Amino acid sequence: MLKIEEIRKAYKNGEIEVEALKGVSFEVKTGEMVAIMGPSGSGKSTLMHLLGCLDHPTSGKYYLDGNDVSDLKDDQLAEIRNDYIGFVFQQFNLLGRTSILHNVEVPLIYKGIKKKKRQEIARDVLEKVGLGDRMRHFPNEISGGQKQRVAIARALVNQPFLLLADEPTGNLDTKTEEEIMELFHQLHDQGHSIIIVTHERSIAEHAQRIINLVDGKITRDEVVG
Ligand SMILES: Nc1ncnc2c1ncn2[C@@H]1O[C@H](COP(=O)(O)OP(=O)(O)OP(=O)(O)O)[C@@H](O)[C@H]1O
Ligand SMILES: [Mg+2]
Repeated sequence: MLKIEEIRKAYKNGEIEVEALKGVSFEVKTGEMVAIMGPSGSGKSTLMHLLGCLDHPTSGKYYLDGNDVSDLKDDQLAEIRNDYIGFVFQQFNLLGRTSILHNVEVPLIYKGIKKKKRQEIARDVLEKVGLGDRMRHFPNEISGGQKQRVAIARALVNQPFLLLADEPTGNLDTKTEEEIMELFHQLHDQGHSIIIVTHERSIAEHAQRIINLVDGKITRDEVVG
């Protein structure tokens, strides 16, 4: 489903260059749930940005659904992103001044889908993440775990090929963290392909496979569970 080969990413700020990824290769199959672990600064978010087509690698190849997306221009990359990728971040990134239903509808507006249909799809996805009774509320009226459910619903609304989550439970307490991981499990059982970044081994063990990243390199790629 996706394959990266010898991916490198260097950030340049004036004279200083930081090589965040130093030749990373792996393959993820359709329906897999993979955790990426590693210390702070090891390149996890950089890798997720590349996998999510938010940025270009400095060198190396990226194949998504058989297409070489390594050298696409920004607008082409944006198109691939809209069609293929759902993103969940640690900060929920919800729009505060609008309802939960509308937050989930937003990606569909960009797709040009009419309001009635949009609301129907958004309602279905919100039911799926257990928020059917909160749709008219605003983000400041719900808990952190519920906010992350909204963010997950928003990521799913375009039926993405791949769901990427960068420390999705980083802002949540242990109990809520378990609930959100349970939701990712359900999504995995329903056939979604998921890559989750985490600092914590206990979270990573929810996946089938753990890729360890240290200082921009893979040190271990293990099958668990
Ligand atoms: N936009 C940027 N410009 C310059 N350097 C960057 C940029 N983004 C990341 N870096 C550097 O690249 C390296 C990897 O950063 P990255 O954010 O990918 O790490 P991470 O594993 O996600 O860390 P954390 O667990 O703290 O989120 C770090 O040394 C970081 O300082
Ligand atoms: Mg990070």
